[in-house]
Amino acid sequence: MSGLAGQRILLGVTGGIAAYKAADLARRLQDAGAQVQVVMTDAATQFVTPMTFQALTGRPVRSSLWDAAAEAAMGHIELARWADRIVIAPASADLIARLAQGMGSDLLSTICLASEAPIALAPAMNRVMWANAATQANVATLRARGMQVLGPGDGDQACGEVGAGRMLEPMQIVNALDTSAAPALLAGRRLLISAGPTFEDLDPVRFLGNRSSGKMGFALAAEASRMGAQVTLVAGPVSLCTPDRVQRIDVRRAVQMRDAVIAALPGQDVFISAAAVADYMPAQTESRKIKKTAASLSLELVRTPDIVSEVARHAQRPTLVVGFAAETNDVEQHALGKLKSKGLDLIAANDVAAEGIGFESDDNALTVYSTSDRHAIERGSKSEVARRLLELIAARLESGA
Ligand code: C5P
Repeated sequence: MSGLAGQRILLGVTGGIAAYKAADLARRLQDAGAQVQVVMTDAATQFVTPMTFQALTGRPVRSSLWDAAAEAAMGHIELARWADRIVIAPASADLIARLAQGMGSDLLSTICLASEAPIALAPAMNRVMWANAATQANVATLRARGMQVLGPGDGDQACGEVGAGRMLEPMQIVNALDTSAAPALLAGRRLLISAGPTFEDLDPVRFLGNRSSGKMGFALAAEASRMGAQVTLVAGPVSLCTPDRVQRIDVRRAVQMRDAVIAALPGQDVFISAAAVADYMPAQTESRKIKKTAASLSLELVRTPDIVSEVARHAQRPTLVVGFAAETNDVEQHALGKLKSKGLDLIAANDVAAEGIGFESDDNALTVYSTSDRHAIERGSKSEVARRLLELIAARLESGA
């Protein structure tokens, strides 16, 4: 069965003569079992009519951010969430430039900005436009952000020239997507993931918190779900959308997170503790706002429960218990110490002092330690890094380790 079977593909079509081939591509993606929703730029509609795609896909084509009726049915954010992956074919030099700049100047570029789905581009343009330093720099930027660039191919061009810039043939695109489709490595597995910070209340208006954004834990939940797992996500206070098909339980304090995790434990195959749980909480939470009457104020703090250690020692311990170690120095030594003392199977260590990775950023890089080996996961988007970590976890589950 094709890796595209059952996938929801948002097919972006931009303005170029290769747009006519996108009609064939829509057909072939459906033949591979995918559901296809077409989004066209205005320029694309000059080459092929939306009716062509509507007839092929059975879905009305979307092209405007300002179509009130269409936005009411499925708004651009819903479209962005609907997509398991976004494929843009043909991708014009203009669209590539706008994506590289992070612009949201039309419906397609806005959806790309708002989606966490993997994006693949099949560029198509005149060979001089393709070779232009600006286009090459933009493509390099998009590649570095994790977008998949398919082609372009070499050969005769519609403009009469010969060279690189031809869009790949529809079946070449389908095959490239198929092999990069998320494999169902975690089908039938149950994963419990904690994410985000915890907030420990001092009084009704103040709390002790930390800088965790929750992005890594949410990326793990989204990717695990794409890989076929049944995912329960216990989330501290974060402003992130729940990934598709993920059951989310919101908590605030460490003790609430512990209770939610322990309650969800039966039947789980894996627990990934990606949350930045507070180590200490106030010995008591005042029911009224603390007044600034004294010149100084001492707070008594007590330890929170160590959730991942409790899970690792629990009678209903999942097969694999995976922790995170955010360190600023002596990363390996601290990570191995925690692996042992907390009774974990794997620990994913990241150097939060390193530039561009860590708490609030979109990128991460990890070194994953077990008692017997280590794997480096090189820098990438948190989604890519999540995929790599889940592949390691799937391999360990498969080998029964
Ligand atoms: O000891 P440290 O906080 O550095 O360990 C980090 C790992 O332990 C993370 O996986 C984190 O989710 C988990 N942890 C926990 N409960 C705590 C503190 C940390 O589960 N109270």
